[in-house]
Parts: sequence; structure tokens; C-alpha cells
Amino acid sequence: MTNVTDQIKYLKDQINSANYNYYIKDNPTISDAEYDKLLRKLQQFELDNPELITDDSPTKRVGSTPISKFNTITHSIPLLSLDNAMNEEELRNFITRVKKNLPDGKNIQIIAEPKIDGLAVELVYKDGVFIQGSTRGNGITGEDITENLRTIKSIPLRLRSDKIPVPQTLEIRGEVYIDVVNFKKLNKQQLNNEKQPFANPRNAAAGSLRQLDSRITATRPLNMFCYSLGKSDISFSTHLEFLQTLPKWGFRTNPLVKICNTVDEMISFHNDLESKRDTLDYEIDGTVFKVNSIEMQNILGVKSRSPRWAIAGKFKARQEISQIIDIEIGVGRTGVITPVALLKPIDIGGVTVTHATLHNQDEIDRKDIRINDWVIVQRAGDVIPQIVKSIIERRTGEEKIYKLPETCPVCNSHIIKIEGEAKHRCANINCIAQLKGSIKHFASKNAMDIVGLGDKLVDQLVDENIISNIADLYYIKIDDLLKMERMGEKSASNLLQSIEKSKTTTFARFLHGLGIRNVGRFMGKVLEKEFPDLETLKNATEEQLNNIDGVGQIVTNSIINFFSEEKNLEAVNKLIDGGLKIQTLIQNKNEDFFSGMTFVFTGSLETMTRSEAKELVEKYGGKASSSVSKKTDYVVIGANPGSKADKAEKLGVKIMSEKEFNELIKSKLI
Ligand code: IVH
Repeated sequence: MTNVTDQIKYLKDQINSANYNYYIKDNPTISDAEYDKLLRKLQQFELDNPELITDDSPTKRVGSTPISKFNTITHSIPLLSLDNAMNEEELRNFITRVKKNLPDGKNIQIIAEPKIDGLAVELVYKDGVFIQGSTRGNGITGEDITENLRTIKSIPLRLRSDKIPVPQTLEIRGEVYIDVVNFKKLNKQQLNNEKQPFANPRNAAAGSLRQLDSRITATRPLNMFCYSLGKSDISFSTHLEFLQTLPKWGFRTNPLVKICNTVDEMISFHNDLESKRDTLDYEIDGTVFKVNSIEMQNILGVKSRSPRWAIAGKFKARQEISQIIDIEIGVGRTGVITPVALLKPIDIGGVTVTHATLHNQDEIDRKDIRINDWVIVQRAGDVIPQIVKSIIERRTGEEKIYKLPETCPVCNSHIIKIEGEAKHRCANINCIAQLKGSIKHFASKNAMDIVGLGDKLVDQLVDENIISNIADLYYIKIDDLLKMERMGEKSASNLLQSIEKSKTTTFARFLHGLGIRNVGRFMGKVLEKEFPDLETLKNATEEQLNNIDGVGQIVTNSIINFFSEEKNLEAVNKLIDGGLKIQTLIQNKNEDFFSGMTFVFTGSLETMTRSEAKELVEKYGGKASSSVSKKTDYVVIGANPGSKADKAEKLGVKIMSEKEFNELIKSKLI
């Protein structure tokens, strides 16, 4: 490929296709690393040719400079809301009304879809390009959040046109949300960063969409389901046809959609959906029923705020009122002390809730939550129930202000608050609660997956002095187990077998299992891709770690601290001696010799183009960047080097000629 414009187009197509396959078809076609590589290449091209940057470029998804306020926009067609049907009778009444108002209403088809609990937004496309996005607002006017919506990868910045023509004007509406797993991760990050956790996924999505700095929005795991049409110069005969067309343009739709021919079918869909509610990745709060025929929708028309052709069947509430009987504290595997409210048992949406997390003392103080308070309790998916707020009006004077104790309830050591953290911790690293927690974590499903080694059994093994750290697990003898209460021969040998089986594991699982602070499942996978084995990771320098995409200073410090602790090294060695076999992902070939290094090229190169040079660096595990900083390892200069060479000199970054660069590679390859 010769022409830069063609190369840019090629890269954009590749990235857009990868996005489409990942987000819309749910069928990834390239690895994260390959995706990043394509994106970095495109960024470099755009940096070198700023005149070729367009608004629909995938590089725009990282956010842009902050704005001071959102502009108000007027929707070309108002975004309506929905009437609610609170029970079966109201749903039957709705169908009766619809039938009465249609000339041939006997055989109407209703389309049922989940009611997504997020925020309604509108996306405007002109000639296939995303030009504006807004919140629902009051339905008539909303806020212009174009730059924030641009960062959401499941929103196409340019409509796909291979399967279907692209209309001149197209307005698509849908719901932006954060899924439950990512919500939990986000809240964990919020707490780690001394920020308030979000009360539920919906608030997290709202908070993320209403950022004036779209670069923050870009870091939030927002997603979107599309479900309705605004202004457009294309029409459909049924809502189903519309929904089936959306993915062809590149929009994401919800798969749980069903055509219902009778009210009974509608009710059974609704009940089915409600029973599935906790198993879904995202929050829903009901079913939306819509008349399928667009012609019939037009005959039925709309009222002032809602259509006559649609209704929302609501699920049971997720918030209830209960009373705090007491506040207990839990000690986690890293010694973190978490206050937990003990509640009068209460049924919330079909689940009996007896405990709710209070996160930390700051949260208790901020929300002024007291023992004996009547409180609003909320549960969402499988997230630990939370206290939304105390009901001050119901206070009787019997309420007691709560303060964390000064000593750990498990080991009696001091409880300390770490500077700069909202959390309190037990100061004793040998606290039995921490010890048990770390063993439970090591054995857990996402870590070493020791089947049959549950929390109770770990407690028992520690309490009976059979084990006192993770490595001891590999040295348990059948006789030790047989001495335990309620342990038969069969269970004992099953446990030993599953410990044995777990010894062969992936590098990522093992790293996660070690319980290094800030290194969870995800980070385990990141590190697994960067390091060929445990030895290399143990010896990694701060610089090497910091240079990895997705690894920041906090993770770097955690890893370095972990491996500089004698006790941890001993445990790891003992595990290896006990038969641990780690399957690594990458080979330690000497072809990774640029790993952890960053190069900057400046001036015109003789033997290769700028992008070939970059490819070479990447091929051997390094990174090529366009600007010089203290983190740069080498600046390679060609003819007529520019200011980058000066900057390198100022910062003390090593400079080499193109010839030296080529020789360096040659010497490494021999
Ligand atoms: S259709 C005229 N479909 O529910 C039709 N809305 O209470 C209007 N919502 O503002 C919307 N999932 O934010 C529709 N599958 C779905 C929906 C849905 C969630 C939200 C939307 C709307 C609110 C109405």
C-alpha cells in the first residue's frame, strides 16, 4: 500500500470490523494486542498527518479536551416515556384498549423486550456519520453529550453499508448502561481512589455519561442497546424488522426479544424474564411491550408524554425498608476492615436480605447511618446489598452512632487507617482472618480452582493447625485430614486429588491466586502476556512494569513490594517444590529483547520508513512512541533530526543513529 490515505482507510476498516465483531456480533476476531497495535498504527499516521483526521476515526474514542458545560439541544422528535402496567390486570386492560382503537384489532402482534435500566440517549447520523448524541432530558430538550457517546465502542461512528443502504438522516434511540461485573469493578476503583462508590449501575452510567471531560468517560465501561427510531428517511413495516436492521448498520440490540400473539404469552414472557433477572449481565427493571405493526402504531398515536401503542410491565421493586439491628465488621484477606449492617430479614425482589455492606467508616459518617435506624436497602443483580439512606423521620432517639472498634475482632491487634485510603486495616499481617482469607482466595474458582476446598474447610484446616499458609496446602497428608472431624476417607482423598489437579495451572490464575494487592484476574492476564515466566516477573524492574499498557505505578509498587518480601518468596518456592506447574503463554525467546523499552524516531531514516521502524521495535517486544519523555529509552535519529533530538539531550535520554539501531538488532539476533 502506497498512499497514506489508503493506509489510514485500511486501518480504520480493520478497527471498525474488529469492533463490530466484538461488540455487535459478540464474536471477537482479533486479540486485544492486535487491536491495540492497529489503533497505535492509526494514531501514529494521524499524528504525522493531522489533516487526515476525521470525526469518525476510531482514535476519537479516547475522548477529547474537557468542556465547561453541556449545550442544550432540541430533539427533532420528542423522546416519549412509557405508561406502566403494575400487574396482570393493567396489562390486559392495555391490550383491550389497543384492540378497541384498531379497525382490525383482533390479531395484533406485540413485541416484548427487556426494559434496560440505564439512560435513554439519542444518536444522530448524517450520511452515515455520527454527528450528534444527546441525553433524553425532559423528552423535548436534552444535553449534547456527543463527545462522551463517541467513546462508547458499541456505538458506530460510521454506519456499516455493506448489507443495507445508509439513509441521509437517521436518529436512533436506546439505553446506555454499565453491566453488573464492570459496575462492581468500577466501585472497587472508586473506593481505592478515595471516591464515593456509585449506588447502582444506573447511577454509575449516569455519572459517567455526564462527565465534562470525555477522557474520563472513555475509561468507563459504558455499553448500549438500541431499541427505537427517531427522525429518519427510511421506514419499516414492523418494529421487529427495524430491530433486525439495526445490527446491519452496526448498532447493538438486545437478544431477548419475542413476538407475542396473546396476553398469556406476554405474561409468561414477563415472568420468565423476571426469573432470569439475576442471571443477566445487565440490570433490567421490567418488560417493554410494543405493538409490532408500525401502521397500527401510527393509528394508535401518542398521548402527551407516552405512546398508546406501548407499555412497560414493571418488575418487583429492588429497594425495601428494613431496620439495622447491629453493625458487624469483617476482616478481608488483605486485612481490610469492612463494616456490615445486620438487618431485620427483608424480602427484596424474591431474595431474603439479612446483611448490607457499609463499605467503610467514611461512608457511615457521610450517610449518617446509625444502629437501629430504619433504612432503604437496595440490591442489584448479585451485587452485595447496600444501604441507600437512613430514614431520618423514623428516628426515635434509640439510634446509636457507630464507630469502628480500635482493635481487630479476630486477633485483637490495632486497627489502623492508612494515610490516603478510606479503608481501615488490621495491622497484624499474621492475623488469622487475613491468613484464612488469603488461602480461600488462592483456592477460589477464578484462581487455583481447588474444587471442594470451600471456606468452611479452610477455616477448619487453619483452626486445627494443619495449614498456616497457601504453600502448606501442597503438603497436606491424608492422615492429617483423617484426624479432622466430619472428614471421611472418600472426601479426604477427593480433596487431595483436586489439590493435585490444581497444581497445573495458568500463569494468570497463579498470579491472581497469590493475592498480590491490585493484581486481580484481569491484571494476571495482562502480566501473563508480558512475562514468559515467574522468574522474569520476579526480577522485573519498576521501569519495565511501568511501561506495560494497563500497568500503572500502583500495580508496579504492589508487584515489587510483593516479591521483595522474604515470606512471599519462600511461599512461592515452597509451592514450586511442592509440584506447582505454571503453563506460561509466551516463550522467553531472545526475540523479545526490546521488551519494556520505548523508542522514538526522528529525522528521515535511510534504510526503512518510520512505520517499518516502529514495526521492528514492536516485533521485538518494545514500543515506539512519537514524543520524547523521561520514560523514553532511546531516540534514534535520521537525517535532519528535529527538536526531539534536542529534547532527548536535555532529558538525558540515550541517542543513537539509525546505523547503531540496526546493529543493535543484529547483535541481539545472533
Ligand atoms: S421504548 C416510545 N424500549 O424506558 C417508546 N424504552 O419509561 C419509548 N427503556 O425513556 C421507549 N428499555 O429510557 C423503550 N426496550 C426499551 C427500553 C426503554 C428501557 C427506557 C427508556 C424510556 C423509559 C420509559
